[in-house]
Amino acid sequence: MANRLQVEFTGLRFENPFLLSSAPPTESDANIMRAFDAGWGGVVTKTIGLHPVVNVDGPKTKFLRASPDGHMSMQKRVGSALHSSWNWELISDKPLDWWVPRIARIKKAHPDRILVASIMAGSGSDRELEHWQTLAKACQDEGADAFELNLSCPHMDRKDMGSNIGKDQEQISIVTQVVKEVARVPVWAKLTPSTTDIVIEARGAFLGGADAIVSSNTFPSIPLIDPESLEFEMNVDGLVSSGGLGGPAILPLSLAKMAQMTQAFPDKAFSGIGGISNFSQALSFFLLGCGTVQVCTAAMLDHAIGPNVIKALIQGMEEFLDRNADKGWTSLEDFRGIRRDRVVTHSQIRRPSSKDYHGGHEAAEGYAASRV
Ligand SMILES: Cc1cc2nc3c(=O)[nH]c(=O)nc-3n(C[C@H](O)[C@H](O)[C@H](O)COP(=O)(O)O)c2cc1C
Repeated sequence: MANRLQVEFTGLRFENPFLLSSAPPTESDANIMRAFDAGWGGVVTKTIGLHPVVNVDGPKTKFLRASPDGHMSMQKRVGSALHSSWNWELISDKPLDWWVPRIARIKKAHPDRILVASIMAGSGSDRELEHWQTLAKACQDEGADAFELNLSCPHMDRKDMGSNIGKDQEQISIVTQVVKEVARVPVWAKLTPSTTDIVIEARGAFLGGADAIVSSNTFPSIPLIDPESLEFEMNVDGLVSSGGLGGPAILPLSLAKMAQMTQAFPDKAFSGIGGISNFSQALSFFLLGCGTVQVCTAAMLDHAIGPNVIKALIQGMEEFLDRNADKGWTSLEDFRGIRRDRVVTHSQIRRPSSKDYHGGHEAAEGYAASRV
């Protein structure tokens, strides 16, 4: 029987539209092989760079939990539920030389699974821009099926890296173009949600030749302050810096960013990320127009690579297709984007008496009610 879950995205065929995003679940070849064995349709490697990174002297990620009484903390409490992940982890601490033979090995073991190499360099000089090309050439020569450009890491001090580039449409265009010059495989741009109007940055990426946009990376945030110790719940020597929020808390925020972009570019390819742990949540992204989705936090909490999460995603999609067989839906393409146009301006939403509301403006001239 044909695989109903199979999708084509940026010219690549995926066994299913569910990918592990660039993060700890994809930080090693061992994890990635396990992820493919568990059933993930694709994997985006932990971001590979040319500059060595050293992480902070303490935990890199913790999970914030909320209780029904409103209590919220990184300390586990009976009856609490996951609210979000918070991290200040940098990109891969393994150098390109470490990754290169492993990319080859993964592809040899899993030739029909999609391996996307996440890469990152700077943009402040020609030399930095060449680093993007060095990374891209090295990864594609070993069989990487696509690139994801990290224009979104929220904890970079350098002004020409990560989410700092991702806030600048011109830098986004330049970097994308530079990678496209050498790429023989599709190039995806992973944007930061930390901008005023993400459509502007998405346009920059498409102008540079991006084959897809990926969104969201984590949202800039800081940990809560413990009311007893008066210390941040995560700190090193009492200090914190801005980190990234992921998990359930960002699902509606990520959807809003995605809705803006899929409406502005209905014919382009999008991969949705943000708070996905089951098929219902993935479905929201698909209905807005995404062709694939990616998962991080939920996988981290499920045996490091999410064997149960991918099982539930696959089962959820199978059941969804069964339930909607009467509509003639046989694959993702039959329902992708069918709710994209339901996000409208506020004044387009029906009111008890619509003639009285003019979107915050005075009534159009000539139609104003007489004030006699
Ligand atoms: C600990 C941690 C490390 C991450 N590292 C990277 C990274 O190296 N590159 C990247 O593009 N995104 C990175 N991310 C972001 C995730 O790929 C993802 O975009 C984000 O967590 C939102 O998805 P989620 O809600 O499923 O967690 C990281 C996230 C976490 C929690």
